[in-house]
Amino acid sequence: MVFTDSSCTYFKRFRMELNLQGPLPTTPALPTGFTWVPWQDWLLERHAEVKYQCFVEQIDAIVFPNLGCRDGCLRLMHEIVAKPGFKPEATWMIACGSDYCGTIQGVRERSGKGAIQNVGVAPAFRGKGLGTALLLKALHGFQRSGVHGVHLEVTAQNDGALRLYRRLGFRCRKTLYKMVDPLVVAASCTSLEPSWTI
Ligand SMILES: CC(C)(COP(=O)(O)OP(=O)(O)OC[C@H]1O[C@@H](n2cnc3c(N)ncnc32)[C@H](O)[C@@H]1OP(=O)(O)O)[C@@H](O)C(=O)NCCC(=O)NCCS
Repeated sequence: MVFTDSSCTYFKRFRMELNLQGPLPTTPALPTGFTWVPWQDWLLERHAEVKYQCFVEQIDAIVFPNLGCRDGCLRLMHEIVAKPGFKPEATWMIACGSDYCGTIQGVRERSGKGAIQNVGVAPAFRGKGLGTALLLKALHGFQRSGVHGVHLEVTAQNDGALRLYRRLGFRCRKTLYKMVDPLVVAASCTSLEPSWTI
């Protein structure tokens, strides 16, 4: 899943797609104490902070170092919101009391397809169905706004996310390799599966 040559490390990723022309499963009710937070401009920094909490020390923070630091997450959020196809209907947070614990953003690309940007649930809140709920909420938002298909990319080592996407009907359509500076990899992780040289 990880390749290294003399100057670069490559992480295997899948592009997964889902057709939205058929009916979608209903978005599950959130567990007691959790509430939906629709997009509003002033929430940009909150999305960035939740994104950081979700991705720090995860595999994708090595593949995309921006995800592993607060500044990087803030930059990413500004970039997502500035895109012409940014979709508030597919952009949500979940709150638990006064804290935010999950985030997802959606963008409609020029091709007309929807792209899930980053879905994340903070570590203490995982395994309660919030990731599933966030994805379905975003998919319904895309569908309501006339988007007929969505895609996302996932790192092959991210087993939990892969299972989640497959369960919702996403299928792998393409394999990609993301190049990462090996110094970044070495600095951020010591427990990756064995790498090998090509
Ligand atoms: C991937 C991620 C969003 C999943 O979030 P989550 O809230 O744990 O997702 P869910 O709870 O919906 O599903 C996870 C598991 O909990 C189980 N689950 C779902 N509802 C449940 C419930 N009500 N009670 C207990 N378990 C439940 C699911 O069956 C699933 O099990 P599985 O992984 O064995 O298939 C989360 O792990 C995460 O933020 N990871 C880091 C960021 C990341 O990698 N994002 C994806 C980038 S591509």
